[in-house]
Amino acid sequence: MRTVILRQADADGRQLICYADLRSPKIGEIKACGRAQWLFYHPRKMVQVRISGRVTVHSGDATAEAFWKRVKGLSRLNYCAEQPPGSPLDQPSAGLSARLLKDLPNLMDSNAGRDHFAVIIGRVETIDWLRLRPSGNVRARFQWEDGHLQASWVVP
Ligand SMILES: Cc1cc2nc3c(=O)[nH]c(=O)nc-3n(C[C@H](O)[C@H](O)[C@H](O)COP(=O)(O)O)c2cc1C
Repeated sequence: MRTVILRQADADGRQLICYADLRSPKIGEIKACGRAQWLFYHPRKMVQVRISGRVTVHSGDATAEAFWKRVKGLSRLNYCAEQPPGSPLDQPSAGLSARLLKDLPNLMDSNAGRDHFAVIIGRVETIDWLRLRPSGNVRARFQWEDGHLQASWVVP
């Protein structure tokens, strides 16, 4: 279970997209099962959405390259740590090498983190939608099978 920033949601293609360091444990977990669940909550609308489906990881391919071009400035530093995410450290640190830190302004525009950059693309196969209402909660289930959508209300 991880909090991530949703980078893109494509309604027509039924895709959800986020980024991660290729070396992070989540990538291994996703690759092992090929699936992921996505949890959203809108506090003002009081709507919870749970999505599940197959997931692919892109790194070092045309897809990764296209998304890498959108990663700007300080965000590029997220993929520049010397050691993989989760590696032990002696003191609090972002894990960037002294050599890279010395060159910080250039680093933000460079491709130093590109090899560690991974794009996670999830296919939306099922949606469990729940709306909390004072007058009574409502819930619906959506499922795509062979391109056909089945939708039904269910007991919250
Ligand atoms: C608000 C917020 C946004 C985050 N966005 C991302 C993200 O887009 N990608 C990511 O890999 N980790 C993101 N994280 C960090 C992950 O939740 C997680 O702690 C980290 O990726 C380590 O996961 P790992 O065990 O797979 O290495 C975010 C954390 C917070 C609190």
